[in-house]
Amino acid sequence: MQNFTTSQFYGLKDHGTFMKLIQETVDQVEHKVGIFAGDNMYTYNRNLSFLEDEKFMAAFHAHTSNTAEQSLIWRYATVCWAAKNGKKLDGDFVEIACYKGTTARIVCDYVDMKESSKKYFLYDLFEHDDSMPHHDMPEHGKNLYQQVQERFSDFPNVRVTQGNIPDSLTIAAPEKIAFMHLDINNPEAEIGALDVLFQRMVPGAVLILDDYGWAYYRKQKLLEDPWFEKNGYQVLELPTGQGMVIKHA
Ligand SMILES: C[S@@+](CC[C@H](N)C(=O)[O-])C[C@H]1O[C@@H](n2cnc3c(N)ncnc32)[C@H](O)[C@@H]1O
Repeated sequence: MQNFTTSQFYGLKDHGTFMKLIQETVDQVEHKVGIFAGDNMYTYNRNLSFLEDEKFMAAFHAHTSNTAEQSLIWRYATVCWAAKNGKKLDGDFVEIACYKGTTARIVCDYVDMKESSKKYFLYDLFEHDDSMPHHDMPEHGKNLYQQVQERFSDFPNVRVTQGNIPDSLTIAAPEKIAFMHLDINNPEAEIGALDVLFQRMVPGAVLILDDYGWAYYRKQKLLEDPWFEKNGYQVLELPTGQGMVIKHA
C-alpha cells in the first residue's frame, strides 16, 4: 500500500498553516499507509487501489506535467474506471469539455484507444473572453485548439471540436454514448449538453460530472438535481467532488 500526497488544496486562509496541521495529523496515524492528500481530500488507511494499477499509473505519469494536474489523480482514476466500463458497451466516448486534453489523453492510454473501434469526441471553446460565462483558465488562447489536436494526432478516432456547447454538438456528436465526462464549470451549458446527449447514453454507460460535489460550483448541482430527478435519476456524490450516474434502460 502506498501514499500519495500533494499540497494542492483550495479555499484556504493560510496554506502554510493548513499543510503544517495536515502533517501533524499524519504524525498521529499509527500505520502510515493509504495516506492521500490533495484536491481538498485527506485520507489515511485507505487502499488507494489506483496507485497499484500499473497501466493507470503509467498513463498518469506520461500525461501530467505539474502538481495541479497530478493532484487530480483520484478524479482521473474515477474517469478511467468509467471509460473502461464503457469499452464493453455499444457507443462512443464523450468529454465535455477537454481543455488541454489531459484527462482524455490518460483515458486514451488506459483503454487502448488506438486499438479501439470507438470514437472519442472532445469539445471545448479553448479560448476565453469576458463575454463568455465560463471562467478563464491559464492556457486558454488562440493556439490551444491546435495544440489539443496535435496532442491526439496519433489517434484518428479522437475528434476534437471547437465551439460553444451545446451549439457545437450539431457539428459532431455520437448517436450512441458508452461513457461521458462532463466538466465545463458552466451550469447552463452542462444542462444544454445533458438535454442533447444524456438520452444517447446506452444502458450501463457511466456519466461522470466533474464539478457536482464542489461547493464552489454549487449552482451547477442546484440546476442538475431537478434535471436528473425529472429524468428518473439521482446523482451519487463521490468523495473526489465528482458526481456519478449510471444510465439505466
Ligand atoms: C475544467 S476545464 C476542463 C478540464 C478537462 N476536462 C480535463 O479534465 O482536463 C473546463 C473547460 O470547459 C470549457 N467550457 C466552458 N464552457 C463551455 C462551453 N459553453 N462550450 C465549450 N466549452 C466550454 C472551458 O473552455 C474549459 O476549458
